[in-house]
Amino acid sequence: MKLTKIEGVYQQNDKIFTENLESCKGIKVYNEQLVSYKNKEFRSWNPYRSKLAAAILKGITIKIEKDVNVLYLGAATGTTVSHVSDIVKNGIVYAVENSPIAVTNLINVSQKRKNIIPILGDANHSDRYSAIVSSVDFIYQDISQRNQPEIFIENTERYLKKDGNGMIMVKARSIDVSLKPKQAYEIVCSKLKEHGLEIIKTIDLAPYEKDHAAIYISI
Ligand SMILES: C[S@@+](CC[C@H](N)C(=O)[O-])C[C@H]1O[C@@H](n2cnc3c(N)ncnc32)[C@H](O)[C@@H]1O
Repeated sequence: MKLTKIEGVYQQNDKIFTENLESCKGIKVYNEQLVSYKNKEFRSWNPYRSKLAAAILKGITIKIEKDVNVLYLGAATGTTVSHVSDIVKNGIVYAVENSPIAVTNLINVSQKRKNIIPILGDANHSDRYSAIVSSVDFIYQDISQRNQPEIFIENTERYLKKDGNGMIMVKARSIDVSLKPKQAYEIVCSKLKEHGLEIIKTIDLAPYEKDHAAIYISI
């Protein structure tokens, strides 16, 4: 098991892992594999279940460390959120999800993982969770809606710190079914740039996710 370029993300053969939180030893969140190594426990991170794992395996290096606070939009049942919670073990993950059913599962996950704050909310209305969320170092968004760039821009403007970073996972067909994926990614990138965000890297997530890209930004 060796550390990758990203603090808190490890690699063994062709698989990546995060180190399970001390309070969660022996506990799985989905059907991931638990591997013990030198008195630590690691959770396998499936790139077919998590676009962030796919982006990392495709070579993206993100600035996310153990003390970082994260705003996670489109948290679903907590699959990727749980790995982010492993990485930012001394930070907080504000996990916003608008499906009450998914949030029920997310609440279960957060009961053992004290650094996750589940929020039942609509990311289109970033003002509605301002009583809970403070400014963050990293914003991650995985919401397949046509207005996904606008949602991301609104949240970065309200919550991202001046030297912060973020990542938006773009589903090309949600932007416009008539466009080629690359054209859809370009539309998103120009909207982000218009609002002063700098595009660090765009990575296509194939073969893990077809017609999806990860766009990594800084402010
Ligand atoms: C592709 S899934 C996210 C998967 C998750 N990121 C993971 O890797 O484990 C997209 C999620 O976004 C949620 N969603 C869609 N629109 C939303 C909105 N406006 N605000 C918050 N969540 C939203 C959906 O309910 C769904 O759970």
